[in-house]
Amino acid sequence: MNATLDPRQAAPAHGSRFVRACLRQPVDRTPVWFLRQAGRYMPEYMAVRKHHSLLDICRTPEVASEVTITAAERLGVDAAIIFADLLLPFTPMGLDFEFVAGEGPQVNTPVRSFEHVKALRTDRIDDLSYVALSIEKVAKHFAPPRADGDQLGIIGFCGAPFTLASYMIEGGSSRNYIETKKMMYSDGAAWSMLMEKLVTVLTGFAAQQVEAGADVIQIFDSWAGALSVTDYRQYCLSWTTQLVESVRALGVPVIYFGVDTASLLPTMRETGADVIGLDWRIPLAEGWEAVGSGCGVQGNLDPIALFAPEDILRARVKEVLDAAAKKPGHIFNLGHGIVPGTPVDNVIRVVEWVKELG
Ligand code: CP3
Repeated sequence: MNATLDPRQAAPAHGSRFVRACLRQPVDRTPVWFLRQAGRYMPEYMAVRKHHSLLDICRTPEVASEVTITAAERLGVDAAIIFADLLLPFTPMGLDFEFVAGEGPQVNTPVRSFEHVKALRTDRIDDLSYVALSIEKVAKHFAPPRADGDQLGIIGFCGAPFTLASYMIEGGSSRNYIETKKMMYSDGAAWSMLMEKLVTVLTGFAAQQVEAGADVIQIFDSWAGALSVTDYRQYCLSWTTQLVESVRALGVPVIYFGVDTASLLPTMRETGADVIGLDWRIPLAEGWEAVGSGCGVQGNLDPIALFAPEDILRARVKEVLDAAAKKPGHIFNLGHGIVPGTPVDNVIRVVEWVKELG
């Protein structure tokens, strides 16, 4: 897309430094937030989890919004990601799943045939309106500017077609994605129909979130790194591009995130996303060069560095900031989500250092 024709570039500057950074506009300092900033490492979240299952939290806007707000305020970050899950759209599509303690998500009847793909529904997206209601509550809470005059950014999110298809087809998390790749390689009709249906549902889901007040949509393609560049191009790129284009057409920037994507970065950039998430395996400057200067980057501290002694952690934070060299379009984050057991104080320290050094 020609940047000079993008009406968002001409619009008045957004009140949030996080949103401005997503658009590669100048900011007073580097914005910071964390993948999985509300989660099991945080005692406040565990207190809520005592009384509610994960899906209960997601589906109860009063609770989901409170969890989202508590994490953002406790950490002092510049953006709040709505508390929800990648797999929520499975239910209105007609696919039952649950979260099994210690094992992650499990789909009761995994999608393995053309007939099953054909039976998946795309007409019940309104059943997901509880996520939009949570966003409305969070947006209302954070509407007034903060003490420093900045408005907190509100992030809505959805999965990318490949990553969601992998959960549908494998039935849960996977190491080798054998069933997913089998369908991809040997049943083109089923694969195309599945990708199309996912793009339809995800576009509608993202639109509800934007209408409710999400400033930015992050598209999680967490497991895209399992694909070769050839396969990503042949079986994913066009559909992911469609999703990115439809979401950008809603008038918000898109962050496109994956893990283990060093070799995929230039191709991921072809989706037209405004910002690409980098994991910690690639030095930030190298990753930014791979996606090109016409695109922002988010990342890329190793989440396990949050367990390191203070001097090492601070050095790693500084390394990320130095590599970004304060060029417009860097959002400080981790390369993947905060894991259970992470010391909350270290996360807060990182926020303070980014505010000091970034
Ligand atoms: O602050 C936040 O980021 C929390 C909101 C959030 C959750 N899931 C809640 C959650 C977000 C952004 C997600 C996205 C998500 N869900 C992804 C993409 C992010 C990534 O890590 O790549 C994926 C792959 C999922 C699917 C999923 N949900 C898995 C694989 C698991 C189990 C992982 C585990 O560590 O057990 C979940 C569960 C889940 N979703 C938790 C949270 C806080 C932890 C489980 C719990 O509270 O019981």
